[in-house]
Amino acid sequence: MHFHLPTITSLLLVSHVSAWVTDMDDKPFIDPYYDKDGGLRLEAALRANLPEKPYSSSHWSSGWLPDICRDIASDWNHNLWDIDAINVTYTDCSTPWVLCRHKAHPRSEQELLGLISRIPVRLRQSIATFIALPHSFSRNGDESGAAGTAGSFTTVWDDYWQVQVLLHEIGHSVDSGVMLAQLPKPNNNFDLSLSDPFQAYILQDKALNSNTHSMVEGFADLVVLAVYDLHVNPPVGYKFNPSWRDIRHAMEGIHYYGRLAGDVFRNSGRCNSWKAAAHTPVRI
Ligand SMILES: *[C@@H]1O[C@H](CO)[C@@H](O)[C@H](O)[C@H]1NC(C)=O
Repeated sequence: MHFHLPTITSLLLVSHVSAWVTDMDDKPFIDPYYDKDGGLRLEAALRANLPEKPYSSSHWSSGWLPDICRDIASDWNHNLWDIDAINVTYTDCSTPWVLCRHKAHPRSEQELLGLISRIPVRLRQSIATFIALPHSFSRNGDESGAAGTAGSFTTVWDDYWQVQVLLHEIGHSVDSGVMLAQLPKPNNNFDLSLSDPFQAYILQDKALNSNTHSMVEGFADLVVLAVYDLHVNPPVGYKFNPSWRDIRHAMEGIHYYGRLAGDVFRNSGRCNSWKAAAHTPVRI
């Protein structure tokens, strides 16, 4: 899936973009795309099959933010006093997540906390802090895109708060985190998606699952499809696409590493000791 606006990946990822494998450049993109309707079908199906979970929330004292929210909000030229930090505890984990929401964000706090709850817990646990900003311009004039992720935080702008966007972004986090950690040590990879063992699956396929030659972006889209595959109309899942056979090895690979990393795509169970550590509170 692509989101029709550039998805900002992390600065860490930018240095990986040149690491394409030549054979991948020759592969066509799956036709039809999974998001040929702009992702509407995927989003509606994911929402219908990943229900909201109950939660309790509490606002931080004014004047305090997680360090990452301070840094990202100031990078994007926001007044730090316009950002609310909220602890949210879902029924599937005893420790909270944090949402930093700009007061002018178009979606309500309740709506955002509900949306985050739909993400399977062992995927959600790779992110400690979610950041919701309105459309913005950075200090050096860059215009905000849809979303960006580095390590254990993700920033989503404007109305890009969708289940599929969160899954895609968390896909970047697990690619460089818990899923990469399943490879034998030592390895020189920054991301599972750029490793030989993972690419060995994709090399067997006729097509790429997405409409990008970036292995990192294609992987994040595979994470969306893997969650879809397990929860939407199983056992048909991703096979709703008439060309599904063209990417079946990629799907086999993502499910294999998803299971190894603790069955992360399954929307059940509880968080575990791999939950990302909270960002440090700082006075603004
Ligand atoms: C938020 O959660 C942290 C634990 O992660 C806790 O130390 C802090 O007191 C909580 N703050 C509020 C306002 O609930």
